[in-house]
Amino acid sequence: MKPYAAAIERYQALPQHMPLPLTSQSVFDRGGPLAVEIGFGGGEYLAYMAKKNPDCNYIGIELPPESIGRGSKIMHTQSIDNVRLILGDARYLLRELFAPQSLDYILMQFPMPWPKDRHAKHRIASPMLTETVADVLKPGAIFELVSDQQWYAEDCYKHFSDNPAFTVSPLETNPHRPFLTRYEKKWQADKRETFRVVATLNTPKPAPRFFLNSEMDFLNLPSLPTTEQLSSLVNQRFSEGDLSAQVKEVMSIEQGFVLRMVASDDSFTQFFYTRLRTRKDGSCVISIDDCPYPYYTPAVRFAVHQLQESLAQYMNS
Ligand SMILES: C[S@@+](CC[C@H](N)C(=O)[O-])C[C@H]1O[C@@H](n2cnc3c(N)ncnc32)[C@H](O)[C@@H]1O
Repeated sequence: MKPYAAAIERYQALPQHMPLPLTSQSVFDRGGPLAVEIGFGGGEYLAYMAKKNPDCNYIGIELPPESIGRGSKIMHTQSIDNVRLILGDARYLLRELFAPQSLDYILMQFPMPWPKDRHAKHRIASPMLTETVADVLKPGAIFELVSDQQWYAEDCYKHFSDNPAFTVSPLETNPHRPFLTRYEKKWQADKRETFRVVATLNTPKPAPRFFLNSEMDFLNLPSLPTTEQLSSLVNQRFSEGDLSAQVKEVMSIEQGFVLRMVASDDSFTQFFYTRLRTRKDGSCVISIDDCPYPYYTPAVRFAVHQLQESLAQYMNS
């Protein structure tokens, strides 16, 4: 295995294949405080914190796979043991992966501000984040945001101040920071200001969660559909409330088909594969492929059930 691939294998945690909620013990095989950095970028700051506090365990969450690669490389180069990286949307994963009152610190540095109103749903700082933090932080623990956008920091300050679960320190301008992230160095070179929000959780409050806590369904059809029947479903949108799903592509394999699918719970979107295989008795089994395994959410379940129902109707007509 190439050293780069070995580093990713060592540092990337795959919660889809692990019992939830995650704990220091389940991820790091040891006890100790657990902290999360949202949007760790290249991982430089995670590595800095991990070396400074070797007894604390750090989990970084990022959206693009390249960040997992870059972060793994840094951790490997600096021989760091107390960091793991998770790929995915922190707006949802922070709430869904961690137990109530389990985190000792949550940090977010220079999140993308998404300034346009029509993009506001992409902002990580929101009342939903505040509710999540009120659930997963330990009482007395801290959430910290650093941003180069004053309006973003002020919005975040307001979300936390409006929530009675928190005590919020006055908004800081140009806080002293012992280590600068890659983005921060850029902002400083441009002589831009930075702003910091620090909120301490006083009274934890549970937030509603939506990941399903059950095994993925196996569904059946009386026989394997034809390529034509499957192709007729491509790009047809199924939706119900906050749930939506689509078949994006149909591929033939020995004894059946693999379908590339997308499913969204509100704006938590996952791409995954579904297999349709013929059984010995001629019937067909529909199952979710485990590479990459999606998180089992109402939208993923909805997607495979819609697929099965549409095909059953089509095959009966
Ligand atoms: C401007 S960069 C800052 C990176 C790093 N914190 C730094 O200061 O150098 C913002 C980062 O947030 C990540 N990000 C954006 N939305 C995210 C989400 N919903 N969940 C996790 N990471 C996200 C982006 O991929 C990007 O790496």
